[in-house]
Parts: sequence; C-alpha cells; structure tokens
Amino acid sequence: MDLGLKDAHVVLIGASRGIGRAAARKFAAEGAKLALIARSLKGLEKTATQCREAGSPEVLTFAADMLSSIEIDAAFAAIGAAWGSVNVLINNAANSVGTHGVFEKFKDEAVYTQAYDLIALGYVRTTRAALPLMKQAEWGRIVNVSTTSTASAGPMLHVYNMTKAAMVSMSYANAKEFAPHGILVNVLSPGSIMVEGGNWGEVINSYFAKTGLDPLSPFDALKMQNQMFGEGEGELVWMKRIGYVDEYGAAIAWLGSKTNSYMTGANINVDGGSNFKN
Ligand SMILES: NC(=O)c1ccc[n+]([C@@H]2O[C@H](COP(=O)([O-])OP(=O)(O)OC[C@H]3O[C@@H](n4cnc5c(N)ncnc54)[C@H](OP(=O)(O)O)[C@@H]3O)[C@@H](O)[C@H]2O)c1
Repeated sequence: MDLGLKDAHVVLIGASRGIGRAAARKFAAEGAKLALIARSLKGLEKTATQCREAGSPEVLTFAADMLSSIEIDAAFAAIGAAWGSVNVLINNAANSVGTHGVFEKFKDEAVYTQAYDLIALGYVRTTRAALPLMKQAEWGRIVNVSTTSTASAGPMLHVYNMTKAAMVSMSYANAKEFAPHGILVNVLSPGSIMVEGGNWGEVINSYFAKTGLDPLSPFDALKMQNQMFGEGEGELVWMKRIGYVDEYGAAIAWLGSKTNSYMTGANINVDGGSNFKN
C-alpha cells in the first residue's frame, strides 16, 4: 500500500533506538524525508544509515534534549531552514529510568516533576516548535506515543502512567484545535515490547539474566512480565507474546501517513489484544 509519504517531511523525536528507530525505517521505506532527534548523535547516525539504506532521500540528525526548549527550538529552526514545512511529527521519546516501583517507594517529589518535565512538558515543547512549520504544509499528522498502562493502570508504574496520561489529555485537546488546519493528532499506546536496549530494556534484561529466560523469545518475555507484575496484575496478552519494534513502527507510520485521512483524537492500542474490553 502506498501511504502517500513520498518526499513528506517527517520529524521523529526519540529516534536513536527502539520503537523510534523502527518507525524511522518504515517512513524511510515509504520514501519520506526524515529529521531524527534524540540526545545521542551516535544512535541517531545508526538510525540514519538504516533509513538511507531503506530508501529515504534525505535524513537529517539533530542532537537535542527534550528537557530544553532552547535545544528543541534550535533543531526545529534548522529543520525549517532546510525544508520550510513539516508534515509529520512523531513524539516518541520518553525515559522511565528511576520511576518503576510501588507507590510508597517514592518520597522524593523530584521524581514526579522530572518525569512530568520530560513526558508531558517535553511533548509540549516539540509540538509548540513544530506547529508553525506544520501549518505551512498541505497536510499534517502528529502521533504521540503513550502506553497501554495509562488505561490499564499498570501497577508499579504510577509515576510514568500519570505523566503519559497528562500528555494523552493534551493530545485530545490538540486534535480538536488543530483539525481546522488539516493536522490530525492521534495517540499510539504500545503494550510490552521486545526492545533492543533502552531504559525498559535495562530493567527486563537484568530480570532475564536472573531467571534464565530467553530474552529473544516474545513468549518468554511475556512470562517474565507476568512474573514481574503478577499474572492478572499486569496485562493479559491474548496473543500470548510481546510485540516486536517493527510492529509498532508500522503502526506509527500508518497513523502518521496521508492514508490516515479521517482519524483524529484516537488512542490506538498496539498490544496483542491485552486491553480490549468487549
Ligand atoms: N518499551 C516498552 O515496553 C514500551 C511500552 C509502552 C510504551 N512505550 C513507549 O514507547 C516509546 C519508545 O519506547 P522505547 O522502548 O523504544 O524506548 P527507548 O528504547 O528507551 O528509546 C527512547 C528514545 O527516546 C529518546 N529520549 C529519551 N530521553 C530523551 C530526552 N530527554 N530528549 C530527547 N530524546 C530522549 C532516546 O534517545 P537518547 O537517549 O539518545 O536521548 C531514545 O531515542 C516511549 O515513549 C515509551 O514510553 C514503550
């Protein structure tokens, strides 16, 4: 299927590994031009190489921290100078290091404010910087990456869940405000993912090492998750396996494409069926 992304201007935040890298590859394979943002230039360059190989005609990389308006604004100023407009903004970056654990563990309020600064305000910063450029384009899509654990209230993740929920709420308001400009805003909520590294990767890989389960098996990954959170406490995954990054990347690319022409304000679960209620 042609997603209508050939030569589209796509900005992907959190593209230095994981789901962001996988989504970048999918956009690249559709012939989109890419601006990749994260803090690690090394990770971004690896993604950029994969995107060029996959068929992207132009890949720009910018090392910028979402905690800094100055760095984010500078990256978008450079993108504006290069392209003049932006069609697609993918807000995928997050970092949950230090936020996993039971409610009583967290005595230091800085844990909450730091998480909010990155995941809620960070998405505000990137959206604010992208919007003028998106209004210059003929069509626009924003995809904000959340998590199914906001809806299922995953235990031991309340700090992360709270901040993602705030970001989801912003996305709904933005969907209404931006619709008259032809900019569709949707949320993609992943369930659990086979990650190449990253902060969740560090948590689960240390658990794999302790239990002897196979980190490359999506079936073992689900067993590990059930052991960590308690079966029934975490999500019951009807497909009996965890998702691969490319499965999330494909969903993000479709949501961020011209082919997605009549959906806005939606929150789509990509989770092996763990959250449907029918
Ligand atoms: N993995 C899961 O099981 C899972 C489940 C549900 C939802 N999600 C969500 O899916 C998204 C991607 O997850 P993932 O597992 O692919 O994560 P990941 O491997 O940890 O990658 C996170 C990305 O965000 C970037 N990032 C982190 N902090 C940043 C900052 N301050 N400024 C700029 N970029 C920053 C990282 O790059 P640098 O470190 O180079 O900056 C990296 O590119 C996240 O929003 C996550 O919350 C993941």
